[in-house]
Amino acid sequence: MAAAKRLIGLSDELEERGRGLKFSVSGADGESQPAFAIRADGKVFAYLNRCAHVPIEMDWDNGQFFDFSGQYLLCSTHGALYDPSTGRCVGGRCNGRGLQPLRVQEENNHIYLLEEDA
Ligand code: FES
Repeated sequence: MAAAKRLIGLSDELEERGRGLKFSVSGADGESQPAFAIRADGKVFAYLNRCAHVPIEMDWDNGQFFDFSGQYLLCSTHGALYDPSTGRCVGGRCNGRGLQPLRVQEENNHIYLLEEDA
């Protein structure tokens, strides 16, 4: 199955462990789902903006996903912590469940979401 590329932003918009880039994706039921991309260790990673504890958005201020240490992604509701490069739960109420990753590609200063063709 081929992947379609959808532009979600420019590389300059994503600083290392800075504010995330918010966008939306279509779920299996066709409903729009919030998502975000961040940069960690120079690479771009993207996830559904949905905590593994309660399926709600995680940013504590618009686009702020990192905790104050800049080390982990933080759910603002009850403080679950996730590894930014894998989405793996590293502490708190995510109870071992991680974030849902999305495929992204950075190319020529552009960031693309890779979506499977229907
Ligand atoms: S909703 Fe994210 S930790 Fe509870």
